[in-house]
Amino acid sequence: MERFLLQEQTEPFITFVLGGPGSGKGTQCAKIVETFGFKHLSAGDLLRREIASKSEYGSMILNTIREGKIVPSQVTVKLIQKEMESSDNKKFLIDGFPRSEENRMAFEKIVGTEPNVVLFFECPEAEMVKRVLDRNEGRVDDNIDTIKKRLKVFEELNLPVINYYSEKGKVFKINAVGTVDEIFEQVLPIFAACEAIKQVA
Ligand code: ADP
Ligand code: C5P
Ligand code: MG
Repeated sequence: MERFLLQEQTEPFITFVLGGPGSGKGTQCAKIVETFGFKHLSAGDLLRREIASKSEYGSMILNTIREGKIVPSQVTVKLIQKEMESSDNKKFLIDGFPRSEENRMAFEKIVGTEPNVVLFFECPEAEMVKRVLDRNEGRVDDNIDTIKKRLKVFEELNLPVINYYSEKGKVFKINAVGTVDEIFEQVLPIFAACEAIKQVA
Protein backbone atom coordinates (compact mmCIF):
# COMPACT_ATOMS: atom_id res chain seq x y z
CA MET A 1 0.00 0.00 0.00
CA GLU A 2 2.97 2.33 0.54
CA ARG A 3 3.31 2.42 -3.21
CA PHE A 4 0.71 5.15 -3.50
CA LEU A 5 1.26 6.72 -0.08
CA LEU A 6 4.52 8.08 -1.35
CA GLN A 7 3.10 9.76 -4.43
CA GLU A 8 3.04 13.53 -4.21
CA GLN A 9 -0.60 14.61 -4.31
CA THR A 10 -0.88 17.88 -6.17
CA GLU A 11 -3.40 16.56 -8.68
CA PRO A 12 -6.84 14.95 -8.34
CA PHE A 13 -6.94 11.50 -6.75
CA ILE A 14 -8.25 9.10 -9.37
CA THR A 15 -9.49 5.55 -8.81
CA PHE A 16 -10.56 3.42 -11.75
CA VAL A 17 -13.14 0.81 -10.78
CA LEU A 18 -13.09 -2.22 -13.05
CA GLY A 19 -14.75 -5.63 -13.23
CA GLY A 20 -17.15 -7.49 -15.50
CA PRO A 21 -20.83 -6.64 -15.94
CA GLY A 22 -22.65 -7.29 -12.65
CA SER A 23 -19.47 -7.71 -10.60
CA GLY A 24 -20.81 -5.08 -8.17
CA LYS A 25 -18.85 -1.98 -9.18
CA GLY A 26 -21.73 0.46 -8.75
CA THR A 27 -22.82 -1.12 -5.45
CA GLN A 28 -19.34 -0.87 -3.94
CA CYS A 29 -18.82 2.65 -5.32
CA ALA A 30 -21.86 3.83 -3.35
CA LYS A 31 -20.24 2.48 -0.16
CA ILE A 32 -16.87 4.05 -0.97
CA VAL A 33 -18.58 7.41 -1.53
CA GLU A 34 -20.37 7.10 1.83
CA THR A 35 -17.18 6.28 3.73
CA PHE A 36 -14.48 8.22 1.92
CA GLY A 37 -16.33 11.06 0.18
CA PHE A 38 -15.36 10.40 -3.41
CA LYS A 39 -17.21 11.79 -6.42
CA HIS A 40 -18.64 8.78 -8.28
CA LEU A 41 -18.54 8.92 -12.07
CA SER A 42 -20.01 5.85 -13.76
CA ALA A 43 -19.12 5.88 -17.46
CA GLY A 44 -22.20 3.77 -18.22
CA ASP A 45 -24.45 6.21 -16.32
CA LEU A 46 -22.94 9.19 -18.16
CA LEU A 47 -23.57 7.47 -21.49
CA ARG A 48 -27.17 6.59 -20.51
CA ARG A 49 -27.67 10.23 -19.50
CA GLU A 50 -26.54 11.28 -22.99
CA ILE A 51 -29.15 8.97 -24.51
CA ALA A 52 -31.87 10.37 -22.23
CA SER A 53 -30.90 13.97 -23.02
CA LYS A 54 -31.25 13.27 -26.75
CA SER A 55 -27.79 14.63 -27.49
CA GLU A 56 -26.28 14.36 -30.98
CA TYR A 57 -24.60 11.07 -30.05
CA GLY A 58 -27.64 9.59 -28.29
CA SER A 59 -28.74 7.11 -30.93
CA MET A 60 -25.18 5.97 -31.67
CA ILE A 61 -24.61 5.38 -27.93
CA LEU A 62 -27.89 3.48 -27.58
CA ASN A 63 -27.06 1.19 -30.50
CA THR A 64 -23.58 0.55 -29.13
CA ILE A 65 -24.89 -0.28 -25.64
CA ARG A 66 -27.54 -2.60 -27.11
CA GLU A 67 -24.74 -4.51 -28.82
CA GLY A 68 -22.56 -4.56 -25.70
CA LYS A 69 -19.81 -2.80 -27.63
CA ILE A 70 -17.58 0.09 -26.58
CA VAL A 71 -18.62 3.65 -27.38
CA PRO A 72 -15.86 5.63 -29.16
CA SER A 73 -13.36 6.74 -26.54
CA GLN A 74 -13.42 10.39 -27.53
CA VAL A 75 -17.13 10.59 -26.60
CA THR A 76 -16.80 8.85 -23.22
CA VAL A 77 -13.61 10.64 -22.18
CA LYS A 78 -15.14 14.03 -22.95
CA LEU A 79 -18.14 13.22 -20.74
CA ILE A 80 -15.86 12.15 -17.89
CA GLN A 81 -13.60 15.15 -18.35
CA LYS A 82 -16.54 17.56 -18.22
CA GLU A 83 -17.69 16.05 -14.92
CA MET A 84 -14.19 16.17 -13.46
CA GLU A 85 -13.70 19.79 -14.42
CA SER A 86 -17.01 20.92 -12.98
CA SER A 87 -16.60 19.04 -9.69
CA ASP A 88 -15.37 20.74 -6.52
CA ASN A 89 -14.57 17.30 -5.16
CA LYS A 90 -11.28 16.15 -6.69
CA LYS A 91 -11.37 12.56 -5.42
CA PHE A 92 -12.85 10.57 -8.27
CA LEU A 93 -14.15 7.04 -8.56
CA ILE A 94 -14.34 6.39 -12.27
CA ASP A 95 -16.52 3.31 -12.59
CA GLY A 96 -16.61 1.10 -15.71
CA PHE A 97 -13.75 2.92 -17.37
CA PRO A 98 -11.34 2.35 -19.12
CA ARG A 99 -13.04 -0.58 -20.87
CA SER A 100 -10.34 -0.95 -23.53
CA GLU A 101 -6.75 0.02 -24.26
CA GLU A 102 -8.18 2.65 -26.59
CA ASN A 103 -10.25 4.09 -23.69
CA ARG A 104 -7.18 4.10 -21.50
CA MET A 105 -4.95 5.86 -24.00
CA ALA A 106 -7.61 8.43 -24.84
CA PHE A 107 -7.99 9.29 -21.14
CA GLU A 108 -4.24 9.66 -20.69
CA LYS A 109 -4.04 11.87 -23.76
CA ILE A 110 -7.11 14.05 -23.20
CA VAL A 111 -7.17 14.32 -19.39
CA GLY A 112 -3.39 14.00 -19.22
CA THR A 113 -3.12 11.88 -16.10
CA GLU A 114 -3.08 8.31 -14.80
CA PRO A 115 -5.09 6.70 -12.00
CA ASN A 116 -3.61 6.50 -8.51
CA VAL A 117 -5.44 3.26 -7.77
CA VAL A 118 -7.26 0.62 -9.83
CA LEU A 119 -9.82 -1.63 -8.14
CA PHE A 120 -10.62 -4.89 -9.90
CA PHE A 121 -13.73 -6.74 -8.76
CA GLU A 122 -13.14 -10.34 -9.74
CA CYS A 123 -16.31 -12.40 -10.12
CA PRO A 124 -17.13 -15.72 -11.84
CA GLU A 125 -19.14 -15.38 -15.03
CA ALA A 126 -22.10 -17.43 -13.76
CA GLU A 127 -22.49 -15.10 -10.77
CA MET A 128 -22.26 -12.00 -12.98
CA VAL A 129 -24.92 -13.37 -15.35
CA LYS A 130 -27.23 -14.15 -12.43
CA ARG A 131 -26.85 -10.68 -10.92
CA VAL A 132 -27.35 -8.86 -14.22
CA LEU A 133 -30.49 -10.88 -15.03
CA ASP A 134 -31.85 -10.05 -11.56
CA ARG A 135 -30.91 -6.37 -11.71
CA ASN A 136 -34.34 -5.11 -12.81
CA GLU A 137 -33.39 -1.58 -13.71
CA GLY A 138 -34.99 -1.81 -17.15
CA ARG A 139 -31.64 -1.61 -18.94
CA VAL A 140 -31.65 -2.44 -22.66
CA ASP A 141 -28.46 -4.46 -22.24
CA ASP A 142 -29.48 -6.61 -19.25
CA ASN A 143 -30.66 -9.57 -21.33
CA ILE A 144 -28.88 -12.87 -21.89
CA ASP A 145 -27.85 -12.18 -25.50
CA THR A 146 -26.26 -8.83 -24.73
CA ILE A 147 -24.71 -10.15 -21.50
CA LYS A 148 -22.86 -12.83 -23.49
CA LYS A 149 -21.49 -10.14 -25.79
CA ARG A 150 -20.51 -7.93 -22.84
CA LEU A 151 -18.65 -10.80 -21.17
CA LYS A 152 -16.70 -11.42 -24.39
CA VAL A 153 -15.87 -7.71 -24.71
CA PHE A 154 -14.80 -7.67 -21.06
CA GLU A 155 -12.40 -10.55 -21.60
CA GLU A 156 -11.00 -9.34 -24.89
CA LEU A 157 -10.78 -5.60 -24.31
CA ASN A 158 -10.97 -4.89 -20.58
CA LEU A 159 -8.67 -7.57 -19.16
CA PRO A 160 -5.68 -6.18 -21.10
CA VAL A 161 -6.24 -2.83 -19.33
CA ILE A 162 -6.24 -4.58 -15.96
CA ASN A 163 -3.02 -6.40 -16.92
CA TYR A 164 -1.46 -3.11 -18.00
CA TYR A 165 -2.13 -1.50 -14.60
CA SER A 166 -1.16 -4.70 -12.75
CA GLU A 167 2.29 -4.43 -14.25
CA LYS A 168 2.45 -0.88 -12.94
CA GLY A 169 1.55 -2.12 -9.45
CA LYS A 170 -1.69 -0.13 -9.32
CA VAL A 171 -4.28 -2.93 -9.18
CA PHE A 172 -6.03 -4.09 -6.02
CA LYS A 173 -7.87 -7.32 -6.81
CA ILE A 174 -11.00 -7.92 -4.80
CA ASN A 175 -12.92 -11.16 -4.53
CA ALA A 176 -16.39 -9.96 -5.58
CA VAL A 177 -18.25 -13.03 -4.29
CA GLY A 178 -19.97 -12.71 -0.94
CA THR A 179 -22.27 -10.22 0.70
CA VAL A 180 -21.97 -6.53 -0.13
CA ASP A 181 -20.50 -5.90 3.33
CA GLU A 182 -18.02 -8.75 3.08
CA ILE A 183 -16.74 -7.33 -0.19
CA PHE A 184 -16.53 -3.82 1.22
CA GLU A 185 -14.36 -5.18 4.05
CA GLN A 186 -11.70 -5.87 1.42
CA VAL A 187 -12.09 -2.38 -0.09
CA LEU A 188 -12.01 -0.44 3.16
CA PRO A 189 -8.33 -0.96 4.12
CA ILE A 190 -7.16 0.09 0.66
CA PHE A 191 -8.44 3.64 1.17
CA ALA A 192 -8.16 3.74 4.97
CA ALA A 193 -4.39 3.31 4.60
CA CYS A 194 -4.12 5.99 1.98
CA GLU A 195 -2.89 9.30 3.38
CA ALA A 196 -2.92 10.84 -0.10
CA ILE A 197 -6.71 10.95 -0.34
CA LYS A 198 -6.94 12.94 2.90
CA GLN A 199 -4.93 15.72 1.31
CA VAL A 200 -7.26 16.15 -1.66
CA ALA A 201 -10.37 18.33 -1.34
P1 ADP B 1 -21.92 -3.42 -11.92
O1 ADP B 1 -21.97 -1.94 -11.66
O2 ADP B 1 -20.54 -4.00 -11.75
O3 ADP B 1 -22.52 -3.83 -13.23
P2 ADP B 1 -23.95 -3.58 -9.82
O4 ADP B 1 -23.35 -2.90 -8.64
O5 ADP B 1 -24.97 -2.83 -10.61
O6 ADP B 1 -22.78 -4.14 -10.78
O7 ADP B 1 -24.55 -4.95 -9.31
C1 ADP B 1 -25.27 -5.80 -10.21
C2 ADP B 1 -26.48 -6.39 -9.48
O8 ADP B 1 -26.03 -7.28 -8.48
C3 ADP B 1 -27.34 -5.33 -8.78
O9 ADP B 1 -28.70 -5.72 -8.86
C4 ADP B 1 -26.84 -5.37 -7.33
O10 ADP B 1 -27.85 -5.02 -6.41
C5 ADP B 1 -26.44 -6.83 -7.17
N1 ADP B 1 -25.29 -7.03 -6.29
C6 ADP B 1 -24.27 -6.19 -6.06
N2 ADP B 1 -23.38 -6.70 -5.21
C7 ADP B 1 -23.86 -7.93 -4.88
C8 ADP B 1 -23.39 -8.99 -4.02
N3 ADP B 1 -22.26 -8.88 -3.35
N4 ADP B 1 -24.13 -10.10 -3.94
C9 ADP B 1 -25.28 -10.24 -4.63
N5 ADP B 1 -25.79 -9.29 -5.44
C10 ADP B 1 -25.09 -8.15 -5.57
O1 C5P C 1 -20.67 -0.05 -16.86
P1 C5P C 1 -22.02 -0.31 -17.43
O2 C5P C 1 -22.45 -1.75 -17.27
O3 C5P C 1 -23.06 0.65 -16.97
O4 C5P C 1 -21.86 -0.09 -19.00
C1 C5P C 1 -22.93 -0.33 -19.88
C2 C5P C 1 -22.49 -0.21 -21.31
O5 C5P C 1 -22.04 1.13 -21.59
C3 C5P C 1 -21.31 -1.09 -21.74
O6 C5P C 1 -21.69 -2.44 -21.99
C4 C5P C 1 -20.86 -0.37 -23.02
O7 C5P C 1 -21.71 -0.63 -24.10
C5 C5P C 1 -21.04 1.10 -22.58
N1 C5P C 1 -19.78 1.63 -22.05
C6 C5P C 1 -18.78 2.02 -22.95
N2 C5P C 1 -17.60 2.51 -22.51
C7 C5P C 1 -17.36 2.60 -21.17
C8 C5P C 1 -18.35 2.23 -20.23
C9 C5P C 1 -19.56 1.73 -20.71
O8 C5P C 1 -18.98 1.92 -24.16
N3 C5P C 1 -16.16 3.04 -20.77
MG1 MG D 1 -22.55 -0.34 -12.94
